[in-house]
Amino acid sequence: MTKLTFAAALLLVISCFSLSDAFLTSTEEVFCTIPSGEGSRASLQFITSQDHVAGLPGDFVMADYVSSSFKDAGIPSVEIFNLDVLLNYPSSPPTLTVKNPSGQITYTAPLTEDILDFDATSDTPWRNHTFHGYAPSGSVSAKAVYVNYGRPSDFDLLESAGINVEGKIVIVRYGQCFRGLKVMNAQDRGALGVLIYSDPMDDGFEFGETYPDGPWRSETSVQRGSVQFNSICAGDPMRADKRYAEMGEDLTSLCGVEDYTSLIPSIPSIPISYGDAQPILAQLGGTAAEDFGDDWVGALPITYTTGPSTSIVSMTTDNEFKVTSIPNVIGKVPGSLPSSEDHPVLLGNHRDAWVFGAADPNSGTASLIEVAKGLGHLVKSGWQPQHTIYLLSWSGEEYGLLGSTGWAELNFEEISNASAYINVDTVVSGDELTVSATPALATLWEGVMADLDGHVAFKNGPSGNVLDANVNAPINADDAIGTLGSGSDYTVFLDHFGIASLDFEFNSPAGTYGVYHSIYDSFDWIDNYGGIDREKGSSFELMAGAAKMWGVLALRLADNDGGVLPFDHEKQGAALVKYSAAVDGSGLDLSELNANIDAYLKVAESVAEEMKSDFVDLKDLNARLSLTERSFLSSEGLPGRGWMKHVLQAPGFYLGYAAMAFPGVQQAIDDGDLDLAQQQVAVVAECVDKAAKFLKG
Ligand SMILES: *[C@@H]1O[C@H](CO)[C@@H](O)[C@H](O)[C@H]1NC(C)=O
Ligand SMILES: *[C@@H]1O[C@H](CO)[C@@H](O)[C@H](O)[C@H]1NC(C)=O
Ligand SMILES: [Zn+2]
Repeated sequence: MTKLTFAAALLLVISCFSLSDAFLTSTEEVFCTIPSGEGSRASLQFITSQDHVAGLPGDFVMADYVSSSFKDAGIPSVEIFNLDVLLNYPSSPPTLTVKNPSGQITYTAPLTEDILDFDATSDTPWRNHTFHGYAPSGSVSAKAVYVNYGRPSDFDLLESAGINVEGKIVIVRYGQCFRGLKVMNAQDRGALGVLIYSDPMDDGFEFGETYPDGPWRSETSVQRGSVQFNSICAGDPMRADKRYAEMGEDLTSLCGVEDYTSLIPSIPSIPISYGDAQPILAQLGGTAAEDFGDDWVGALPITYTTGPSTSIVSMTTDNEFKVTSIPNVIGKVPGSLPSSEDHPVLLGNHRDAWVFGAADPNSGTASLIEVAKGLGHLVKSGWQPQHTIYLLSWSGEEYGLLGSTGWAELNFEEISNASAYINVDTVVSGDELTVSATPALATLWEGVMADLDGHVAFKNGPSGNVLDANVNAPINADDAIGTLGSGSDYTVFLDHFGIASLDFEFNSPAGTYGVYHSIYDSFDWIDNYGGIDREKGSSFELMAGAAKMWGVLALRLADNDGGVLPFDHEKQGAALVKYSAAVDGSGLDLSELNANIDAYLKVAESVAEEMKSDFVDLKDLNARLSLTERSFLSSEGLPGRGWMKHVLQAPGFYLGYAAMAFPGVQQAIDDGDLDLAQQQVAVVAECVDKAAKFLKG
């Protein structure tokens, strides 16, 4: 797969202005004249002027800013939806020391991000608030063990060499799997505490100059983040908002767990910089890490070893938990169709950040505001979409997709006929376009990309966002389009409610960027670097380009000329064939499943014909096209995590972010439980049959 260069993206931006481009509708042409780089820059400058961690004063300031921006743009309905959730904040900074066997302190970690003259917001109290969302308070002392990325396979290798983490403090590097699951995997094996550090191999000097001389992670820079066990159930781990009780729902009915404590760690953890990690790693002793494979060795100038150390590491965390309110902004452009025919399209992006969030997520917020300006411009000229368009600015994403999950669960009735949820999180942290989507939306995406740029072969541009070979992917119909895992706000819409979803971004080929979740994800970083070669353009122009892509996707779902919703169920069928092939050869009987997939493909083919015909019952056809995705939900949900109801894809149970296809089947195979795997094959087969019948009508 080739990389989409910035030059290619720039062409896309330019071509959007070109009136000679016959492929955009006139509404789309007008929409595309509005989003601008200057507009994106101005929004982002304001949003990054103050820290806005979920639930804190800055979060409310930014919610007001987004809400007024929507109103000023001309969005007809704008409301703030507050949700009560469980959060934690540091009461005092964590501590980390090392003592030699005779009890003398040999090292005290500063745990402070440097103030940089280059970076105007870096002199902030947050530089000392290096903590993990949902990590408990605690104080532990123990020998330390290095566990590489903290995947189950990493712990297995250590165990096979007789190295046990029980009763130890684990030191683990960021990357390869969601941080909360690193803690979960360590806790399950009896570890007492976890230090998660950023190895320069994964987002630091291995890639180039470090901040402020370049975009990559510097010596004192810390990746904050949530350590919720996100592969089990997303959203507020307490479901504390009182509207849940009024609905007769609670954590147990929704997530299948007795108590919120099983969704978050019971052992303390601290995120640390490589500067702070190096002295600890350097003195672990024990087995050479290299013995477990080359991918156990990071880029620090030390000999990586596993420990256990003879020295004693002591760590303390002091985090206060409290139920508090978070603000979500809900903008709406009502559609012209009667509600029985309205299939709303949902555009979402989170707004809360660690800490200033220039790239994550507010590059996406700047785009969202440009989308609002484009739609508002159309509205002011008297235009109305056929289907309702929602503009959704979430809080609490960073702690665990709290705002999106809460709003969707408490308002599902209102959006039960939605056609699609289109998410943008960090929209610019580099210049390589990456997209993941439900297969039925792949053709829509390709059409929009082709029409926004007649000159660039976009189909070869986007790469799947499945990070590496640790999953069975990219498994979609089109290898250029990845499969959605988790890690952003589409999770509740897709995995819980079965709404077709799409997520895109411009990121770096590394799949991450050097200031992620540190105080340096700031206006100065994005203005000077943004992960982009500055000789070619600015990240703000890319945000405007993203707004055009996002807006045209929305217009094709909400205001489609012919009236037929642009779903491609042949692509969905082709994906099913691939998913099935991926679990074949495991000793499972797939005959019924494959027969049902064949039947689905035949229905999809005839529906594709029907879409081209002039004499269709549009209401009926659009309902079948857009709501078929709901059939892929099983009422029981996935084994051990009933909140995840979609049987075609889910985040991996032990890895998080990355996607797993046929997750019920695949996880059972991985766990060596073939009876469960076969039973899950039957569940998938039943869903595919249900989907084929629904699509057929
Ligand atoms: C942050 O930590 C540094 C180093 O320990 C200290 O000098 C500074 O006063 C702290 N800043 C705040 C606001 O607490
Ligand atoms: C969803 O569509 C059904 C079938 O047309 C309709 O009865 C229902 O009112 C719609 N729901 C909403 C919230 O519009
Ligand atoms: Zn984000």
